[in-house]
Amino acid sequence: MKKIRILTVFGTRPEAIKMAPLLLGMRGRPELEPLCCVTAQHREMLDTVLDIFGIRPDFDLNIMQPRQTLAAITTRVLEGLDEVMEQSKPDLVLVHGDTSTTFAAALTAFYHQIRVGHVEAGLRSHDKYSPYPEEMNRLLTSRIAELYFCPTLQNKMNLEAEGIRGGMYVTGNTVIDTVRLVARGDYLFKDTLLRSIDFNARRVILLTAHRRENYGRPLENIFLAVRDLCEKYPDIEVVYPVHPSPVVREAAQAVLGGVARVHLIEPLPVDDNLNLMSRCYLVLTDSGGIQEEAPALGKPVLVLRRETERPEAVAAGTAALAGVEREAVFSMTERLLCDSEAYAGMARAVNPYGDGHASERIIQAVLNNFGLAQRPADFTP
Ligand code: UD1
Ligand code: UDP
Repeated sequence: MKKIRILTVFGTRPEAIKMAPLLLGMRGRPELEPLCCVTAQHREMLDTVLDIFGIRPDFDLNIMQPRQTLAAITTRVLEGLDEVMEQSKPDLVLVHGDTSTTFAAALTAFYHQIRVGHVEAGLRSHDKYSPYPEEMNRLLTSRIAELYFCPTLQNKMNLEAEGIRGGMYVTGNTVIDTVRLVARGDYLFKDTLLRSIDFNARRVILLTAHRRENYGRPLENIFLAVRDLCEKYPDIEVVYPVHPSPVVREAAQAVLGGVARVHLIEPLPVDDNLNLMSRCYLVLTDSGGIQEEAPALGKPVLVLRRETERPEAVAAGTAALAGVEREAVFSMTERLLCDSEAYAGMARAVNPYGDGHASERIIQAVLNNFGLAQRPADFTP
């Protein structure tokens, strides 16, 4: 029997973290011939994830440039992938999420009249400039895709509201598959700073911030709030693995460089990061993936954005929007440091985003679409 050839395309750290369990799962299926192309929109951060999961891409476009523009990423992916699709002639292309790699890969597949499956489909903030450019990348990818692997029922309903009919599966988010693979009670950190922290004596705050729409004043406000918190609370310790974007690095260094008990460190390998999350006190972040992981690990998340396309954790009470103003970020964090009831109310393990079996459902959904399996049951929290 001819195998179904599936070309998976991704390029950034979060896409790799979320596609890894799916790729590993597809490799074990005799009906499938999985191929992997990385655009390397991210280089070092991507390679760390590939190493941890033992993934060797079949194609590597190596497009990353320092301070790359959105147009440069998009054109370089289109040009590079054109040849890869010509050469590999897949039956289906799988893309993930909302990056410029995602949209450009979907567009290239369309130019080759190859069907596209969208993993993590249907997230919406309903503001095309926030997150920027991700909301537009998602919208455009949805127009091109034919198969939609929606993490939650809400995500499926978002697609239906836009007139999409059919091809939708509610699978849970593959990021929870990854959390289940790497978060362990007896984990020993690779990072020497993490090894040296006494998590019983200190309340550790994990901070991450990198979004383009937060460049400038919002990032500065966030960092000022963190500085204020460290000055007022001597028992907190802030770990900030700083995104390698020069814009982010300069902003972080300008406000937080040299501040006592703030550790500006290199991006962590994902296993260190997830295990840090499971041991920290709370999380401050503008990251998408971290908003999904923290509830599964029972940690309160304050979201450093004005909106979120991930309302499920807010509804479950484990995440809250803190915005990007200095006073609000300070006072919402302070509340969680001082009010044990408020803290306990948010620090509950809930799993609105998945049960660790999303990859299996996606594989079954693909097989179902090619007439080789029954439709998988939808994920319900
Ligand atoms: C990209 C995605 C964003 C996602 C984020 C995850 C787009 C437009 N943005 O944003 O949706 O949330 O990844 O982190 O697709 N750099 C390095 N080494 C790396 C990675 C990045 O040096 O391993 C530096 C480069 O100078 C690069 C810059 O960071 O130009 C920005 O990278 P880019 O992929 O353009 O944007 P992100 O902010 O990472
Ligand atoms: N992450 C990581 N190391 C770090 C910071 C984050 O491995 O130092 C992981 C995190 O656990 C999550 C993913 O990277 O799985 C989120 O990526 P990012 O915040 O860059 O992108 P987003 O999810 O916002 O698109």
